[in-house]
Amino acid sequence: MKNRPRIYLDYSATTPIAQPVLNAMLPFFKDEFGNPSSIHIFGQKAEGALENARNTIASFLNCRSDELIFTSGGTESDNLALRGVALARRKNFGANHILISPVEHHAVSKTAQQLAKIFGFELELLEVDSYGLVSPENLRQKIRHDTALVSIIYANNEIGSINPIPECAKICREFSVPFHSDAVQATAYLPLNVNILNVDLLSIGAHKFYGPKGIGALYVKQHTPILPMQTGGGQEWGIRSGTPNIPYIVGLAEAIKFVENYQNEWIEHLQRLRDELISYVLENIPDSQLTGHPTLRLPNHASFVFDGVDSQKLLMLLDLEGFACSSGSACKTGNPLPSDVLLAMGYSPKLALSSLRVTLGKDTTQEQIERFLTSLEKIIAKIRS
Ligand SMILES: Cc1ncc(COP(=O)(O)O)c(C=O)c1O
Repeated sequence: MKNRPRIYLDYSATTPIAQPVLNAMLPFFKDEFGNPSSIHIFGQKAEGALENARNTIASFLNCRSDELIFTSGGTESDNLALRGVALARRKNFGANHILISPVEHHAVSKTAQQLAKIFGFELELLEVDSYGLVSPENLRQKIRHDTALVSIIYANNEIGSINPIPECAKICREFSVPFHSDAVQATAYLPLNVNILNVDLLSIGAHKFYGPKGIGALYVKQHTPILPMQTGGGQEWGIRSGTPNIPYIVGLAEAIKFVENYQNEWIEHLQRLRDELISYVLENIPDSQLTGHPTLRLPNHASFVFDGVDSQKLLMLLDLEGFACSSGSACKTGNPLPSDVLLAMGYSPKLALSSLRVTLGKDTTQEQIERFLTSLEKIIAKIRS
């Protein structure tokens, strides 16, 4: 594998920064270095860049610019949404019940678990079907008038399935319960108009769509009760204090423009490659199963389980052949744990430890997929023998 270029097929983990995004950020590290809170011209320029970025993102989400809070990424957005709203709703209304899906990213599930363990909230999980999808009917059965908030992931990072967010949001609205959705994986490919989604809170993070790591945003609908998780100088309407990270905020906005300009092109290209990849695997690799929904899934996302194949071994052998992919299992000191998501969908721990996630990006080519499939087939046969 010495002379062949490496092939990156892990775009759901992160994406390389796009050149126009980097170009837009660079001046704000040096020449345009002001603090937006300062009164002088340096501050005014930074303040102008901050507001332009805010307006770009607000227009993409179809929200007001004062409904956006810049954060350090998807994790912080999820943490702020859950902890901030749960604590405010308890303080204001005595609400003590939290409802989330069992297939959330850890940024949501671990935060909800902490709220239950340390702060005494009652945490309840919705049910999911074998595709990892929640059902609005199940939400209707479980939501209560004392529910502090509901959080349901828009598009799943491990299995790519897309949840019925507007239908769930409608039920939450009937009960006047704030509804949060983690849209970190959805931003590049799915409609993000918050009025159509009907959500109260929505998390995004730039590095999943060709922006920089360490920057994200939380949409918070006007009048949603939320307690600041970071107090200080009162930036971001007092909800998230701290000098704003202007170069990265500019990068986030530029990455959003990139999505707006190219999203349709990407979807068409990726869906075709993804479908070819999935069909090939299911037809040619024995005892393989697609995880997640066959059609209600992210256009760049393919995920499988391969009976009798250890996913850590598979990932290592793929890496040796030059292919970068991932699996859903968390590896702790060489002892991998099966993914909570696959377990919640009904997979056995053994099968859940045989998972593979292949996620494509704007620069993925047909030739790369063909080479990948040839190697995958061989490696799986080798592991099984
Ligand atoms: C669905 C989802 N939520 C949250 C996160 C965390 O985002 P960040 O890496 O920006 O903290 C990720 C990252 O993988 C994700 O896929």
